[in-house]
Amino acid sequence: MTELLRVDAISAAYGKVTALREVSISIQPGEIVAILGANGAGKTTLLNAISGVLPITGGEISFDGKRVDGKKPWQTSRLGISHVPEGREIFPDMTVETNLRIVESNGGGPKFDVADIMTMFPRLKERISQLAGGLSGGEQQMLAIGRGLMARPRLILFDEPSLGLSPVLTKFVLSSIAELRTRGIATLLVEQNMRAALKIADRAYVLRVGRIVRAGSAAEIANAPDIQEAYLGV
Ligand SMILES: Nc1ncnc2c1ncn2[C@@H]1O[C@H](COP(=O)(O)OP(=O)(O)O)[C@@H](O)[C@H]1O
Ligand SMILES: [Mg+2]
Repeated sequence: MTELLRVDAISAAYGKVTALREVSISIQPGEIVAILGANGAGKTTLLNAISGVLPITGGEISFDGKRVDGKKPWQTSRLGISHVPEGREIFPDMTVETNLRIVESNGGGPKFDVADIMTMFPRLKERISQLAGGLSGGEQQMLAIGRGLMARPRLILFDEPSLGLSPVLTKFVLSSIAELRTRGIATLLVEQNMRAALKIADRAYVLRVGRIVRAGSAAEIANAPDIQEAYLGV
């Protein structure tokens, strides 16, 4: 079994506050894996640990068979891990087109150019010369995904891509993410929107106060009646 990503018993902390405790997950090439959990469970911390935004305090992370813990975000990006953060982190004073063109990494995954992103998100095409700061929340999310793809990832990490979007846009953005599978890109999808995430995921893990408390196929997790109440605080 060739795992694309292997996270092995990692821990992470903010000062004295431990945010991840011996978390282990794995992703196969082309798989969509969801990380579910209530606010504060450690979802963002897990993505930051994988992309190298936050150093880990224990455990190991391997990507494509090579150790990546200790690497900086620009290094993991070059190796093929794209991180689309919750804050979206587009450049508001640059145009939509420039936001896409300035991405320089080549992670060795399928090639995307600006035209491909416009085909994927026609709404961005209409706004290609506008400043990114003037886009709606949904359009900024599309641009952030586009920037993530321009780096030619083999694995893309999404932090709450549906946050603040209408139900219609949530559906559109998540189905766009699901389509990445056809290009052979693996996805780690962090969501509080459990139902929406499980519709496109192959497997899911549930995080609770920094620990993985459940793991299974998307169907198993979706059909476990206790999960929402016990772990997601909804
Ligand atoms: N920059 C930070 N400094 C201190 N504590 C933090 C920081 N970021 C997150 N935390 C804490 O770490 C835990 C996990 O947070 P986070 O990973 O953001 O959770 P989630 O994304 O699941 O909502 C929480 O208890 C949160 O308060
Ligand atoms: Mg978060």
